[in-house]
Amino acid sequence: MSQTPRHVAIIMDGNGRWAEARGLGRLEGHHAGAASVRTITTRARERGVESLTLFAFSTENWNRPKGEVRGLWRLLIDFLKTELPTLIKNQIGLRLLGDPDAIPPLALRTLNSVINRSQKNTRMTLNLALNYGAKDEILQAMRRLSEAGEPFDEAHLEKRLYTAGQAPVDLLIRTGGEHRLSNFLLWQSAYAELLFSDILWPDFDAAAFDDALTEYAKRERRFGRTGAQIRGEL
Ligand code: IPE
Ligand code: IPE
Ligand code: MG
Repeated sequence: MSQTPRHVAIIMDGNGRWAEARGLGRLEGHHAGAASVRTITTRARERGVESLTLFAFSTENWNRPKGEVRGLWRLLIDFLKTELPTLIKNQIGLRLLGDPDAIPPLALRTLNSVINRSQKNTRMTLNLALNYGAKDEILQAMRRLSEAGEPFDEAHLEKRLYTAGQAPVDLLIRTGGEHRLSNFLLWQSAYAELLFSDILWPDFDAAAFDDALTEYAKRERRFGRTGAQIRGEL
């Protein structure tokens, strides 16, 4: 069963600890983390992943010290400006998962410009989860269903999620050693394979991503059935 996951989602955790272990400031850890984003995006595309979702800023991350919050958005702006040509060259379309309203205006303008300029790219979708919270996302989807008078069923609700039109998450990776979901893609990951890695995000390289895909391929996804049914013995 050597299957490639269509949708890989990653909770990129451990930048702060990576920096602290080197006597550096936390922002330097985020800077090193941006290099991993580049590496893993390229690798995911090479491996034929359709959607790569990266958790970059949660609705809870606003509670961090102001300087770190400002630094993270600044880093995002620089990252987007530098990466646009590579995204276009590699046929990668950018999408935002998250509530745009609270995103700082310059970051939002830059994001929208990259999203517009990369929207025709269909080789892979790169979803950046920014100001993202799964509970917010689901509530917002439900409010919209209700306003539109649409039925409350899975298909209609999924059309109102930020990930509308994309495959559900097959593989959810969290780096940095913590074993929790931190309010990430709760609906879309309902049947995802979970993989927790102790590697800190700035150290997560192409080989680590390949290892994750190898581990995924070994999993037997049963979706409620028996192993014998899945192996076609029944
Ligand atoms: C993940 O790294 C990046 C963001 C949440 C923006 P952290 O900054 O959470 O790193 P640790 O968990 O403090 O090591
Ligand atoms: C989750 O990481 C959010 C992102 C990776 C953007 P955190 O480091 O903020 O999560 P908690 O606070 O440890 O759960
Ligand atoms: Mg963390």
